[in-house]
Amino acid sequence: MAKLKFPENFWWGSATSGPQSEGRFKKKNRNIFDYWYDIDKKVFFNEVGPDVASNFYNSFKEDIALYKKIGLNSLRTSIQWTRLIKDFETGEVDEDGVRFYNEVIDEFIRQGITLVINLYHFDMPIELQEKYGGWESKHVVELFVKYAKKAFELFGDRVKYWMTFNEPIVPVEAQYMYKFHYPLIVDGKKAMQVLYNTALASAKAIEAYGEYKKRTGNNGEIGIILNLTPSYPRSENEEDIKAAEISDAVFNNSFLDPAIKGEFPRLLTDILEKDGVLWESTQEELDTIKKNTVDYLGVNYYQPRRIKARETEFDMSSGWLPDKYFENYDMPGKRMNIYRGWEIYPKAIYDIAKNIQENYGNIKWFISENGMGVEGEERFKNAEGVIEDDYRIEFYREHLTHLHKAIAEGANCFGYHTWTPIDCWSWTNSYKNRYGYISVDLPTQIKTVKKSGHWIKEVSESNEIEGWDM
Ligand code: BG6
Repeated sequence: MAKLKFPENFWWGSATSGPQSEGRFKKKNRNIFDYWYDIDKKVFFNEVGPDVASNFYNSFKEDIALYKKIGLNSLRTSIQWTRLIKDFETGEVDEDGVRFYNEVIDEFIRQGITLVINLYHFDMPIELQEKYGGWESKHVVELFVKYAKKAFELFGDRVKYWMTFNEPIVPVEAQYMYKFHYPLIVDGKKAMQVLYNTALASAKAIEAYGEYKKRTGNNGEIGIILNLTPSYPRSENEEDIKAAEISDAVFNNSFLDPAIKGEFPRLLTDILEKDGVLWESTQEELDTIKKNTVDYLGVNYYQPRRIKARETEFDMSSGWLPDKYFENYDMPGKRMNIYRGWEIYPKAIYDIAKNIQENYGNIKWFISENGMGVEGEERFKNAEGVIEDDYRIEFYREHLTHLHKAIAEGANCFGYHTWTPIDCWSWTNSYKNRYGYISVDLPTQIKTVKKSGHWIKEVSESNEIEGWDM
């Protein structure tokens, strides 16, 4: 296939997060993962926790130089609430946290890499989880806004791209429905309140940023990162289609609609109301959500959902869950990333792009994560010690070809960030699956560019890819 050219000034970048890259060095407070690791190491693959991660706290200068070396022109990471803020109630900052993030930001500027800063990446301070139930509480929403305001004041002069949340639906699922993040609660009603409170926290942070911009004349932008997992029905049968629509309302449109349109999808609120699990809200809060929508959107895409109408009665013994209305469908013959257990379906990137173009005012957006986690990558090391991750290059080329098609048809996509620049710590999977353009040897923290890192440099420099035959 021919070369495919991307729009001018396209972002060729990558994403990581504070808790997954920095390590806990000199951090005054603990988030839920720090705490969970302290009390139950066995939960984490090979018992590797977030203590060191990829050592970004100590090696950020060298790491950012490596980003530059592989041609990344933009990069996302997150500030850790638990590093920047010493006292969550008063918003008092930790001086070392301020120093660290200042130096990181200045280093990105020195290297000429556009920085996107995210404020929350699954990392609820344990103190607020224990005291108030984390996002269950509207007081925590206020504390988050206090923290966001501090971040804007401290860093807004240099950071021009902000994100309020990364994948806010994940804590809803992981902490309150399907038990894969601490505190492993199964409570659908609480989950829905958490969903609402997070959307509110995002809108209030956007509002605070607007006030900051007005006061300072700053011209930055603020958005949200959503993991969009399109729900494909098993068949054209009406019940399957309905089930997929509900699944989309719960997992995708629940955040996409308020973020862009300023209101929640009716399909979702009608169901929640009927089932007696609708969140508590006030008119004033709903007005805040209505008025404070995003400037731009980040889309994380890894996998689709395959959905069917329920074939078995939903077991209500653990109370209400949205799964009452749909079931996952194990589609025969689907392509899998066997290490992560996720389906590979590149065309969904095109479908997401068309959805944003046609149903969300063609708002500007970028792919903020796409990637392939592979276990045991050392076996692909060549004589020079470089991991030859051709499978990752192919994965990216295929996804980018679908993205390119959508852009050619008018989708307003301005960039492609992969997960992740340097192999990083992945929650309970720790370092099991590696995603980076650059590998990290854990005992020595030696970092080596993989074949895909050399590939992205060429792509970024030429602003084109070798198209994939579709
Ligand atoms: C995204 C997250 O869901 O996927 C990252 O934003 C995460 O934090 C990445 O690391 C890859 O998923 P995992 O679970 O394999 O680490």
